[in-house]
Amino acid sequence: MATSSFLDRLGIDLPIIQAPMAGVATPQLAAAVCNAGGLGSLGIGPSPVDQARQMIEQTRALTDRPFNINLFCHAPAQPDAAREAAWLQHLAPLFAEVGVPVPASIQAGYPSFIEDDQIFDMLLATRPAVVSFHFGLPSAERIQALQQAGICLLATATNLTEARQIEQAGLDGIVAQGFEAGGHRGMFDPTAEDEQLSTAVLVRLLVQQVSLPVISAGGIMDGQGIRAALDLGAAAAQLGTAFILCPESSANDAYRQALQSERAATTRMTASLSGRPARGMLNRFIAHADAPGSPAPADYPIAYDAAKQLHAAASQQGNHAFAAQWAGQGAPLARALPAAELVQQLVKEWRGA
Ligand SMILES: Cc1cc2nc3c(=O)[nH]c(=O)nc-3n(C[C@H](O)[C@H](O)[C@H](O)COP(=O)(O)O)c2cc1C
Repeated sequence: MATSSFLDRLGIDLPIIQAPMAGVATPQLAAAVCNAGGLGSLGIGPSPVDQARQMIEQTRALTDRPFNINLFCHAPAQPDAAREAAWLQHLAPLFAEVGVPVPASIQAGYPSFIEDDQIFDMLLATRPAVVSFHFGLPSAERIQALQQAGICLLATATNLTEARQIEQAGLDGIVAQGFEAGGHRGMFDPTAEDEQLSTAVLVRLLVQQVSLPVISAGGIMDGQGIRAALDLGAAAAQLGTAFILCPESSANDAYRQALQSERAATTRMTASLSGRPARGMLNRFIAHADAPGSPAPADYPIAYDAAKQLHAAASQQGNHAFAAQWAGQGAPLARALPAAELVQQLVKEWRGA
């Protein structure tokens, strides 16, 4: 019952959400999931406003169903020249390996939604059916304005405290993101002690102790996983890694190959690629940057600039050893199917399980 009224609120038929994945989810991917009866999502956290608007328009051209637009609500980056210099010095052997100089400086490549008026105005003008927040919440004024525009609002929680803040802020649902999940961990304060709750424990905690519908995220790769999430009381399941191999995603060949290799079985939670904890496939960058005795990375997303510059130089030489290849613990179960087929397969497994 709770599930069907939440799905009605979202305007979708199936309890399946394709996770917002900045840099991986495309209008084609999101629209294919929407047209198959789920909720497609686009991560516009790092996108400039014109690009974000274009992605929304492209999605609208491909589907008349509701979709979700996801934003990053991190505390604005704190530049610290000494910390950044120490971080660049730590990464110097990797730049030397690629044969390019260490950058003279690094900076945040994008602002937080909490200080981005252009994206806020664009959302009020374009009015996507669903908007979701990661890394925290925007101001009460912004939440109210988006709700008054008729937008359904979701936010990620990694523990009960964050979930209660989302409940108090009056949102419509909570994405319960377990430690298994691929990509960035949605924790509000990345310096806080992390209990590293698994998806199953977190979902049960929130279903029992918070009044909002709970969306289970982290490690769900098939219909059996969706069934288990619903049995635990979740109103829907959000899958990220499961959709990376869809031809509609923008994952490059190296990323796809890694995900289909033995490397998929070895993921790590690391803050060294971007400055915030995120789960991806272990690679040379993580092995070096997280070695014992390493300094703290530059603040998020300043550290990301260093990793992106290194990867850009290396990938020109065909070397993808420094790429951020986000993936969850369930990565070996990812399937290379067109998104509509994958959704159909998920439904078959869920109903048959
Ligand atoms: C490649 C990738 C990119 C991601 N980018 C975002 C993002 O932009 N915004 C967001 O809220 N979550 C992002 N996530 C996390 C997902 O929303 C979700 O929590 C996660 O994918 C669930 O775990 P799973 O990958 O095991 O399914 C990303 C995940 C992946 C794998």
